[in-house]
Amino acid sequence: MYSSVVSVLMIFVFYSCFISSSIHDVVATTSTPSSSMIKQVCSNRWSNFDSKLCIHILLSKHQIASATNLFDLSIGIMELGISNATNTRTYIDKLLKKLTDVKGAVRECKLSYDSVIGSLKSALSEVRDDKEYLTATYDLLIASTDSIERCANAVVSGKVEDETILIGNKVVPIFGLSAYNAVDSLTH
Ligand SMILES: *[C@@H]1O[C@H](CO)[C@@H](O)[C@H](O)[C@H]1NC(C)=O
Repeated sequence: MYSSVVSVLMIFVFYSCFISSSIHDVVATTSTPSSSMIKQVCSNRWSNFDSKLCIHILLSKHQIASATNLFDLSIGIMELGISNATNTRTYIDKLLKKLTDVKGAVRECKLSYDSVIGSLKSALSEVRDDKEYLTATYDLLIASTDSIERCANAVVSGKVEDETILIGNKVVPIFGLSAYNAVDSLTH
């Protein structure tokens, strides 16, 4: 008798945990203000822009998915983009110290990431501190095109097959152009 009460209780506890966790999942994945904003800023305005990957990356980052307006969303994306590009550059720096011969392409990437990070940092302070949205969109566009293409082209011609650099090159325009979309909306 006692043991069957215990097992009924355990089943009850088990199911309530299970049900509350699945309710939690449903709440987390249904449309929130930020998920519709994320779809908006990840909408495809450029060729080669991977909207699905953009939505996937931005939704997976708490500091971005918790934004409740486009201003905060743009700040979150730029901060994350800066930290991601900085990590990639740190990796490139270490790689450069190890390599002895074929440094050309990797050195190009170092310069490429220097300017990507510089432009993203300018854009962040233009939006956050100066409310200079138009100038910021220009910097975001440059980071996502000319600046990162310098490394993208170098890895193709140097036949560099480095996963970290290739992913870095792919995500810089995702952060840059989604931030561009967010900041651009602030100007209207
Ligand atoms: C940059 O972000 C992407 C997407 O979240 C991730 O896969 C990658 O590992 C990050 N790169 C670094 C160097 O942290």
